[in-house]
Amino acid sequence: MPSLSHLTTFVLGALVALTQQADAAQVFLAGDSTMAVTGGGSGTGTAGWGVYLGQFLNIPVTNDAIGGRSARSFTDEGRFASIISAVSPGDFVVIEFGHNDGSAGSGPDNGRQDTGTDGYSDTAVVHDASGNAITIHSFNYYITNAVRSLQAKGAIPIVSSQTPDNIWSGSSIGAPSRFVGYAADVAKNTSAAYVDHFAYVAQAYDALGETTVNTYYPIDHTHTSPTGANVVAEAFVRGLLCGNSALKAQVNAAGKAVPNGCI
Ligand SMILES: *[C@@H]1O[C@H](CO)[C@@H](O)[C@H](O)[C@H]1NC(C)=O
Repeated sequence: MPSLSHLTTFVLGALVALTQQADAAQVFLAGDSTMAVTGGGSGTGTAGWGVYLGQFLNIPVTNDAIGGRSARSFTDEGRFASIISAVSPGDFVVIEFGHNDGSAGSGPDNGRQDTGTDGYSDTAVVHDASGNAITIHSFNYYITNAVRSLQAKGAIPIVSSQTPDNIWSGSSIGAPSRFVGYAADVAKNTSAAYVDHFAYVAQAYDALGETTVNTYYPIDHTHTSPTGANVVAEAFVRGLLCGNSALKAQVNAAGKAVPNGCI
């Protein structure tokens, strides 16, 4: 028959285990359709890379990425605010935008365009379809504010550059968009860890070749199939392992085995 002290030890042990579980770090993902559970475009046959990240880490991943969002609309809809309120000290937040941040051109405001410039304090005035003026900010402003707020809560933001489109220049994936450079600048200015996801995906795609990579894009040049999303997740893990983020320590054996080397 177990003694009272054995029972007490057991109960205490279970409580400690539960508490540790509650306190264990986790990873939140903030991004667009290329990262989200619902892959985007028409949705048929596509998946975001965030779906495939968890298999490479020792800690859980919550995928808060959502299709069609930019640095601005993710901010304006309160989605960064939700993540900022959800994080505990030591949690990681991967932030990756760029696909939806471009200018609306001469049309009415699309709710997601940023100023198109990279100064933190830059603003521009755009107009909605009814002619109402809206002041917008730069990509750097929206991402910097999210990063700073997360840091203030003791969370660990990781700024990641957007994924490439399936557009080739000879035998290589085409050149990065300006948002790749902006993401690097924000990481530098905020001392956040940076993963040049664009460059690591480009490395993986260049090694696989255009014919294979074309099969990862069932609907357009932006949204990946599940197989493509897995390659994109592997490239993120490679970039993570080659970088300076504390999340490196949570990469498991499968993550350490992802293809390609450091750039
Ligand atoms: C760096 O971030 C701060 C806000 O935290 C901002 O005031 C400053 O302009 C930024 N500098 C650059 C070079 O973006």
